[in-house]
Amino acid sequence: MSGNRSKKAVPRPRVLVVGFAGHQGKEYLPVVRENADVVGGVDPAPAASSLADAWEFPHYTLLGEALARTEFDVAVVTVPHSEHFPVCSEILAHGRHVIKEKPFAVTEQEARQLIHLAQQADRSIFTLLQRNFNPVFRFARENLTRIGQPYWFSYDYHLNLAHPTTGWRASRKHAMGGVLLDMGYHLIDVLSGMFPEPSQVHSAFVHHYQEMRDRRLEDLVSLMSSYPATGLKGSLRISRHHYEKAEHLCVLGTEGALNVTPGVAVLHSIGGLPLESFTWDGPKSDIARSMIAHYLGHLDDLRYRQDHLQRQLRSVHTIEGIYRDRLREYDEIADRCA
Ligand SMILES: NC(=O)c1ccc[n+]([C@@H]2O[C@H](COP(=O)([O-])OP(=O)(O)OC[C@H]3O[C@@H](n4cnc5c(N)ncnc54)[C@H](O)[C@@H]3O)[C@@H](O)[C@H]2O)c1
Repeated sequence: MSGNRSKKAVPRPRVLVVGFAGHQGKEYLPVVRENADVVGGVDPAPAASSLADAWEFPHYTLLGEALARTEFDVAVVTVPHSEHFPVCSEILAHGRHVIKEKPFAVTEQEARQLIHLAQQADRSIFTLLQRNFNPVFRFARENLTRIGQPYWFSYDYHLNLAHPTTGWRASRKHAMGGVLLDMGYHLIDVLSGMFPEPSQVHSAFVHHYQEMRDRRLEDLVSLMSSYPATGLKGSLRISRHHYEKAEHLCVLGTEGALNVTPGVAVLHSIGGLPLESFTWDGPKSDIARSMIAHYLGHLDDLRYRQDHLQRQLRSVHTIEGIYRDRLREYDEIADRCA
């Protein structure tokens, strides 16, 4: 047999970047370019045109224009929350794959509609969630069984922003939720990868700034979740204006404990003796690189597509249920005060 068998070159996917002039869009651009050809970008921001010139791809202010004029395989979507559903449904209806920022959707109804459109077009729609590609979180998932039956977790995720929330995140119409939807989607997804969907979630919404209270956009959320069958319970706290930026997940099990921060995971015996630890201190861009390369490589993997969508549906269902309960309570308070 010849050792010189020629390899069939796999064509690089052609990508349309939507919302590329924003914070996340700019972060992903160089990484997307490593794995794909950026053939166009959509963003109405004033700075978008010169950015597209610098990156040497055609710029469109409207999605419809780009769909009419650009041949592409997949769109990478990094837009404000209110734009996710209209943008993604238009791209799926146009018959193209979507790799999008979180949240997958704001309501279960919209999530199901996106899934339906994706199935009709036989395309993928994947949500960008970095923790699934962080080696520390992977170690935690893979070693969870070593702590026996988990019976408790606590998960904290805080930013220490010293100013009120600005931009679209400060508008109910555009943000469609506060920290639970914005930062909390990541945590709910991490927990979805470890445990089934909680059967009951109690929540407290807290506000640092009066204007956020007026707009019903929580600055801090505290959740207490109960899980079916196993008796597992857990607590989450997520906030934007903490005294320090921090992320910490701790799971207690019948045989030990698992302690996770984004840089290190430690397995402990009962009583606290560290048994094994795993550290990762690579750059943030490595995680984005492996996430985007992974999604681009799985666009036609039907099994992966199905698992991903089921998990996103669970996360959307959980978050929507928490907001529904909380908004009902807001309305009851408003009625009492009226
Ligand atoms: N994974 C993470 O760690 C992370 C971090 C920050 C933001 N995000 C997510 O990324 C998304 C964008 O957030 P951001 O902070 O980058 O916001 P941003 O405001 O910095 O950027 C959004 C961009 O989208 C553009 N845009 C608005 N409507 C559009 C439309 N209809 N078509 C095309 N472009 C449009 C805006 O002009 C802007 O340039 C959100 O879903 C957010 O939750 C994720």
